[in-house]
Amino acid sequence: MIEAPATNPPPADAMEALKRRAAAAALDSIQSGMIVGLGTGSTADQFIRLLAEKARAGLKVRTVSSSERSTTLARAEGLDVATLDELPQLDVTVDGADEVDQQLRLIKGGGGALLREKIVATASRRMIVICDEGKLVAELGRFPLPIEVVPFGVTAIRASLDKAAARLGLGGAMAVRQTATGEPYYTDGGHLIIDASFGRIPDPEALADALDRIPGVVLHGLFIGLASEVILAGADGVRRLTPPQPA
Ligand code: A5P
Repeated sequence: MIEAPATNPPPADAMEALKRRAAAAALDSIQSGMIVGLGTGSTADQFIRLLAEKARAGLKVRTVSSSERSTTLARAEGLDVATLDELPQLDVTVDGADEVDQQLRLIKGGGGALLREKIVATASRRMIVICDEGKLVAELGRFPLPIEVVPFGVTAIRASLDKAAARLGLGGAMAVRQTATGEPYYTDGGHLIIDASFGRIPDPEALADALDRIPGVVLHGLFIGLASEVILAGADGVRRLTPPQPA
C-alpha cells in the first residue's frame, strides 16, 4: 500500500484544501430528507460549512452533532441541529479521523470528542470518514490513542491500562491530557483523557477488547467496524476505501 510519509506534511493552506476536498466528496452521499451526524474536528468543520451552504441552497437535512464545538458551528451556519434523543436513528455520519488503516479501523479522539462521536456513529446507518491521505497508515498507533476515563481513581485506572498494554506487548508513555494552560483537559462529558503513545498497535481488536474490560475506562479511540467508507484527499484528487469483503 502507499502510505504518505510521517514527515513533511503539506503546508497549512494546502492541508485545509485537502480537508475541504474530502468534505466536498462526502457531500455527494447526502440527499434531501436525510438525518446527518456531524463529526468533530477541523475536517468535520469543513463538511459542516459545505453542508450548510447546500442547505441554504435548498437541501433539506436535519443534523445531530457530536460535540458542543460542532453544534455551535452548525447553528452559526444556519443548520438545524437536533439532539440524539430527538433523532435517535441517523442516515449517515460524516467525521474525520486521526488515523485510518486499510481495514477501515480508525483512531479518533485527538479533538477530545470521541465518546459522542462513537455514540453518534453507532446510531448511524453509515459512517463516512473524511481525511487527507497522510492519515492512512499501514499499522495504527503512530498517533497516541485517546482513552477517555472517569476522573475518580485515575492513577489506579492508569495502572490497569499499563498492565493491559504490557500483556499485549505494548509499551510507550501514557499521559493525562492537559489544556494549553496546563490544566487537566475535561471532555464534554466531564471525563479525562489518557493519551497512550503505543507507537504501533498490531492487534487493534485485542487492544479494544482489553480496554473495554477496565473499570473506569469510559471509551477508547479505536473505532472498529464503524466506518462504511473512507474518503482520502490527496494532491491528485480523492480516492475511496471500503471495508474488505469477507472471503
Ligand atoms: C475529534 O475528537 C477527533 O476524533 C477528530 O475527528 C479527529 O481528531 C480528526 O480531527 P481533524 O479533522 O482536525 O484532523
